[in-house]
Amino acid sequence: MTPSEKKKAHLLGFIQHGVNSHATGMWRNPTDKIGYHFSRPEYWQHMGRTMERGLFDAMFIADELAPYTTYEGSSDATVKYAVQCPTHEPSTIVPIITSATKNLGVGVTLSTMFTHPYAMCRLLSSLDHLSNGRVAWNIVSSYSKSEWEAYGHEDMTPRSERYDRMDEYIRLCCELWDSWEPEAIVADKATGVYADPSKVKVIDHDGKYFKCRGRHFCSPSPQQRPVFWQAGSSGRGRDFAAEFAEAIFAVHPGVERMREYADDLNDRIINKFNRPAGSVKLIYGVQTVVAQTRQEAQEKYERIRSCIPLEGALAWISGHFGLDFSKMDLDENIKNLEVPGIQGLFESIIYAKDPKGEQPVTVREAALIYAQGMGMPVLCGTASDIADQLEVFMDEGGADGFMLAATYTPGCFEEFVDMVVPELQRRGRYRTSYAGPTLRENLLQE
Ligand SMILES: Cc1cc2nc3c(=O)[nH]c(=O)nc-3n(C[C@H](O)[C@H](O)[C@H](O)COP(=O)(O)O)c2cc1C
Repeated sequence: MTPSEKKKAHLLGFIQHGVNSHATGMWRNPTDKIGYHFSRPEYWQHMGRTMERGLFDAMFIADELAPYTTYEGSSDATVKYAVQCPTHEPSTIVPIITSATKNLGVGVTLSTMFTHPYAMCRLLSSLDHLSNGRVAWNIVSSYSKSEWEAYGHEDMTPRSERYDRMDEYIRLCCELWDSWEPEAIVADKATGVYADPSKVKVIDHDGKYFKCRGRHFCSPSPQQRPVFWQAGSSGRGRDFAAEFAEAIFAVHPGVERMREYADDLNDRIINKFNRPAGSVKLIYGVQTVVAQTRQEAQEKYERIRSCIPLEGALAWISGHFGLDFSKMDLDENIKNLEVPGIQGLFESIIYAKDPKGEQPVTVREAALIYAQGMGMPVLCGTASDIADQLEVFMDEGGADGFMLAATYTPGCFEEFVDMVVPELQRRGRYRTSYAGPTLRENLLQE
């Protein structure tokens, strides 16, 4: 295969509207947020411009709705060690990022669990208008008991019912988004007719989980619907993603598990849901630590690791998987079981040491591996080392692109853009310009 026939990578910067993203202890790193504060617009403008300079498809803003409470039945350790806490509301920064950029998309994580579909559609249509068609929605249903408690629920709905509900949710959203016909807006000043009501459908939905009667309050936005992102990894999650998503996110520690995952997902996409091959991008999480020399990269990596507090790490895995790890011995081996929380990410721990999951992983190891970047492969070295690995993940692991988890900001993205992007371009494995103004066009670019 010549370089021009090989797949080109899509890139996303994975981050949260908080002091800490997916590397626990990041805020302590002396190279983190020098001259910036995460709660200020200047930080987000700079992050957006940096990612756009690197021709990223989008910034991916992850979110959860409340501090984790699973570890020792309290949010004390979460608060104490800044375990994804504080985290501010993610949609508020979207217009700040998109007004500082022209092409960069923004994927925002918004939970279907406590917001009515009608309000969700209105919010996302408004953001898609304001960004001129650059918004994606990472569709989640809230996996942590703390989120449910914060919103006044004693118990969390089981996974399978969460997916049933999310299925009805997304179908209703699509009805709303598709309810304005293209010629509905007449805007005839002479007659005073702005829109033709016969072309704006009244939605009348009476389902198992939702009722909705009314017209969508927003006119069609540039993308009509936001780009759909999903990251469910259980069987139900994979089906949901294969049916609806335009990009799917997963974390696998090595290329063998990536390949299995890609084969399974592509089979569901093509054979179960009759969608064309290539219509859904498979995006894998990676953490990169790049420098001019391997030794320098290794030193940076050690600094990142030294920032992780063990108790904070335990609070994070407890929150993400829904198991209280304070009740387990640190040297006990983790068992492969179905967890109430994020199943797909739990598997990144089980298979952290070998692709068959035969080498046991202790609680301590799991916590420290996970706290560094959710069990993503850590690519540490020169730009060439990192590009080599990314090529393997694309060619052998089925990746269409990568979400780059923050290690310290904005530095890790600046370094990736300055060093790794040109190396990927030299190899013909990365775009040299955007395909078009909308996120969907860029995500579909070959
Ligand atoms: C890479 C990745 C990122 C995720 N980001 C979020 C997030 O920001 N917020 C959230 O509520 N869930 C997030 N999730 C959780 C999933 O979207 C999904 O709700 C969860 O995995 C439960 O479904 P599952 O058991 O089918 O995996 C993420 C999952 C993965 C794999």
